[in-house]
Amino acid sequence: MNKAALHISSERDHSPGRPDEQRAEEKKRLRAGIKEDSMFDIVHSPHLSYPEPVPVVKDPVVLGLNVTTGGYYSHNASAALVRHGRILSLCEQERLDRVKDSGSFPARAAQACLDAAGMDITAVDALAVATDPHFVAMRTGRSPDLSVVETVWLRMYHQFGSVPPLLFLVGHHLAHAASAFYPSGFSDGLVISWDGGGDNQSTVVYRGGESGIEQISEYRFSLGNLYNKFRKFLNLSDKGSLMGLASYGAKEMGLLEGYVHPEGLKVHPALQFARGREFLTDPELLSRLGPPRLSSQPIGERHVAVAAQAQYAVERLCRGVVEQARILHPSPRLCLAGGVALNATFNGMIWREGLFEDLFIQPNAPDGGLSLGAALEAARRLSGRVPRNGRMQHTFYGPSFTAEQVEKTLNLCRLPARRVESEEALLAEVAGALDRGSVVGWFQGRMEWGPRALGNRSILADPRSKAMADKVNDLIKYRDEWRPFALSILAEHADEYLLNAYPDPFMITTAPVRTKRAGRIAAVVHADGTTRPQFVQKETNPRYWSLLDHFRRRTGVPGVLNTSFNLKGEPIVCSPLDAIRTFASSGLDMLVMGEWVLEKEPYPSAARRPGVSRKG
Ligand SMILES: [Fe+2]
Repeated sequence: MNKAALHISSERDHSPGRPDEQRAEEKKRLRAGIKEDSMFDIVHSPHLSYPEPVPVVKDPVVLGLNVTTGGYYSHNASAALVRHGRILSLCEQERLDRVKDSGSFPARAAQACLDAAGMDITAVDALAVATDPHFVAMRTGRSPDLSVVETVWLRMYHQFGSVPPLLFLVGHHLAHAASAFYPSGFSDGLVISWDGGGDNQSTVVYRGGESGIEQISEYRFSLGNLYNKFRKFLNLSDKGSLMGLASYGAKEMGLLEGYVHPEGLKVHPALQFARGREFLTDPELLSRLGPPRLSSQPIGERHVAVAAQAQYAVERLCRGVVEQARILHPSPRLCLAGGVALNATFNGMIWREGLFEDLFIQPNAPDGGLSLGAALEAARRLSGRVPRNGRMQHTFYGPSFTAEQVEKTLNLCRLPARRVESEEALLAEVAGALDRGSVVGWFQGRMEWGPRALGNRSILADPRSKAMADKVNDLIKYRDEWRPFALSILAEHADEYLLNAYPDPFMITTAPVRTKRAGRIAAVVHADGTTRPQFVQKETNPRYWSLLDHFRRRTGVPGVLNTSFNLKGEPIVCSPLDAIRTFASSGLDMLVMGEWVLEKEPYPSAARRPGVSRKG
């Protein structure tokens, strides 16, 4: 095995066996930036060799925050509230301040989490922040930048007038790993965190077990940055767009031959992207790729080939990391987190290869999920026990709104909505509308956590005809036409349509569609014959399951096209007012909020129906 790109964690990094004097000296150096009269007790990450004594709290309530300060690129701010590892509420700041991927301090998200749990800040035993300046300092040799501590304290005080007495600093990748391992329900597993970069790491392998999570290796390349560079080169709106485009090309190394080891063990320096500039200064690579795509330039064959080869290269590298990780810790269970874990194509592939008996991918795999990981890891340290609450089955942990709140908003906007109090009547009406070609905004219960709408803040449509995907794209989502739509399918019927699919509740893997069934769900079958399914379970979302079952009984098809309830470039809707705004400014035909139904007038004539006009 070629280990050129693999760095095995050593004593030098984690130093459990260092002499006492050396530990004391290092501790002194790292503590240099902390004032003795700090308002927090700062609890170090177990990355360090001298775990601080922590008071044992039997059933700790922890509020996790993803927050970055001090000039870092900040995004995906979020909050998570847990009671000894049991998730109470989760929320991303973007849903509340209505700025996509918002990096603002997550005070409103924290408030939303407390409100949803019916708690006051005084009930919180500790805060947990998903960054560890001491860990970064240890790796860089610089003094720790502790501005995050001051920011957290002040912003929390401003919001709540009181701040919990403990602050845990949990390293970025440790928080990613914790967000995948603890909610997996596994007693033991291999855990991989891979992203663009955070706390000076990009690709880290951990072993999860009875005593927590321990790093076993890391890689000196950034899969997230590599992918992102190609996306920017092709001038595509987001990473999902590159993945969608890649399905139209051939799976081969092609132009990247010699730049990525075919077994995924090594990357040419030009693609390691340690600082991000090498890509544009490698003349050989640029001459192979040709010029970057202009904003005005249509997608051509070369662009498709570059997208397909970038996706293939990332798949090979991911595969190489997994292969080596299995040698270091041969567990039959795999957990994934970090932005690269949104690569549904790779995720589906690794499942179908059968290397693992079970798989768990944190549904909020990007940095939004860090607050959950930090909270769970802090809960472990506070209680002295690994959080054990079974497997995370759903993502419905966000804010919810009562029928009266919905009614009040409708009245405020003076909209003529109808209340359909019979559940059966409501579901029959919506299934009928979908069958007749209506596109429905579906707003129910608690908002989802993470980038996927899974049946509570969703736009739904009939999956049977490709024309319906075009309609959703042209009149509502304004997405790149090569991006596929996903399928919500009744779990009981998934096997009739899908081949060797991971039973995925989170829409985070792809699966091949059975050829004989592809024509029945044409709107959600991609160019490569796959779809990105959500297995809908009756136990976790009974109303959504029943809606799909009504549609099945009516049409024979046990699933619907499901895309997130938002317009291009906006966060998924959170409140009834967000939903009404989106409904009013798009081609949605029907809005269903709880029991309330709002419909637009049909077009008076086909001549007035708008054509394709608002693609971004
Ligand atoms: Fe990250």
